[in-house]
Amino acid sequence: MDPKIEKLNERVALAHIGGGQQRIDKQHQKKKLTARERINYLLDEGSFEEMGVLVTHRTTDFGMENEIYFGDGVVTGYGTIDGRLVYVYAQDFTVFGGALSETHAEKICKVMDLAMKVGAPIIGLNDSGGARIQEGVRSLGGYADIFYRNVQASGVIPQLSAIMGPCAGGAVYSPAMTDFTLMVEQTSYMFVTGPNVVKTVTNEEVSSEELGGASTHASKSGVAHRTSANDVACMEDVKKLLSYLPQSNRQKPEKLDYVLGEEVRDVLSDIVPDNANKPYDMHEVIDGIIDEDSFFEIHADYAENIIVGFARLGGRSVGVIANQPMFLAGVLDVKSSIKAARFTRFCDSFNIPLLVLVDVPGFLPGTDQEWNGIIVHGAKLLYALSEATVPRVTVITRKAYGGAYDVMNSKHIGADFNFAWPTAEIAVMGAKGASEIIFRREIASAENPEEALKEKETEYAEKFANPYRAARRGFIDEVILPKNTRRKLIKAFAMLESKEVVPPKKKHGNIPL
Ligand code: COA
Repeated sequence: MDPKIEKLNERVALAHIGGGQQRIDKQHQKKKLTARERINYLLDEGSFEEMGVLVTHRTTDFGMENEIYFGDGVVTGYGTIDGRLVYVYAQDFTVFGGALSETHAEKICKVMDLAMKVGAPIIGLNDSGGARIQEGVRSLGGYADIFYRNVQASGVIPQLSAIMGPCAGGAVYSPAMTDFTLMVEQTSYMFVTGPNVVKTVTNEEVSSEELGGASTHASKSGVAHRTSANDVACMEDVKKLLSYLPQSNRQKPEKLDYVLGEEVRDVLSDIVPDNANKPYDMHEVIDGIIDEDSFFEIHADYAENIIVGFARLGGRSVGVIANQPMFLAGVLDVKSSIKAARFTRFCDSFNIPLLVLVDVPGFLPGTDQEWNGIIVHGAKLLYALSEATVPRVTVITRKAYGGAYDVMNSKHIGADFNFAWPTAEIAVMGAKGASEIIFRREIASAENPEEALKEKETEYAEKFANPYRAARRGFIDEVILPKNTRRKLIKAFAMLESKEVVPPKKKHGNIPL
């Protein structure tokens, strides 16, 4: 063979074995795939084109000049998923534990820059021991270069992070600034400081898994949007998630072919119980409305009193936000407000219409909520929805009480079409609470206060526990039978397809953070 070609082949082959077979075996023993294997699962077969395979680090401290690996611990390039262009980087734990050097960061920045210029999603597969310790501040600078690009790319191209191993210290802030973070159960963890530092500083004994494992971040902190059982399942999740998203903010999500046919769904008729205090599962309503099996839930185990996720409705990609009466009666609290606000802003950034399903008794009372800033956090959702210019449609299934009525995509804050089911109750509060306040004196002086309260409650409920006052004012555009909801929504979103709003000129708003 021509020695020049041999030289090239040799280098590429060396790059492909990363830190060597022993370290690859170790990776497999931990039930983790290598960076290249992950990319193979993620991208369409044969579509990957690698960039920077021959890059090496420039460090000479600590004998590093003798430890050179082609590619320098990260595999970067582009390829396709279901025929759509994506950019990808995958950290290679077999090379210095995937630790980030100056050159490793440069490779990531290069694909991020391309992704932004071309307008295609960037997917980061994270598996790294953090900053390359032998490089000091140059490595920290590399992180900051990535952070800066994460912010520039925010709202321009979808940014997805899969955490498939360690992700600690400064490394956590890139995923945190991307749109979605997916974690692999048992083999990944994220924390600002690890268990040893925690023990030294706070004297708490905690394992890595408990401190920052996938289930912790999916249920307690909300840092993780989804978790997967293993690396392959995680790659499948990334692909599915992408299918709902456009390539960039310059496009709309792909619409699948769909012909409107018989859209009546009787299953929707019996979900809301007669007793207004009885819970029901809003997932059943969502499933009853959307295209079959199309719901992709985000934050399923976090702030379960609100449901958010992507779905298809008549082939169209929509973002669904729905109060969940099964948890805390579907009340809005700090976490659910933040969860729904962030989801709203993502959808609005990327031209994904919003469907809001409402059954909300109000905001959660109490010192815990007030002292943790429910005023500011609740305002986030109000702000995010008010600001959203994508098509916005609301269906009130049952309760829409108090300020939460306003917040949950009411007409007043810019929703385009507001439906209500005949079971809707649109009022300042529930009939009992309302009667206790406005008829307090009459009830107290009545011969039988209990009976008087019941009477007043019935009177209040008759007046307000329905959608008709709101419909009379035009705050509700149409009261519809539940079984017709799907058809009505498909038509409403089709009607709104070319909606355009030009917001007032500003640098950016000041969302209450
Ligand atoms: N910089 C340079 N090399 C690193 C590194 C880093 N930040 N983190 C890990 N490595 C190297 C290790 O030296 C080891 O090299 P080797 O294969 O030549 O032995 C290899 O990566 C694998 O690390 P190891 O510790 O054997 O793997 P592990 O699975 O047992 O533990 C970590 C993984 C991430 C928990 C552990 O490596 C660690 O604590 N790393 C340091 C984390 C840190 O403090 N980073 C800097 C601040 S962000």
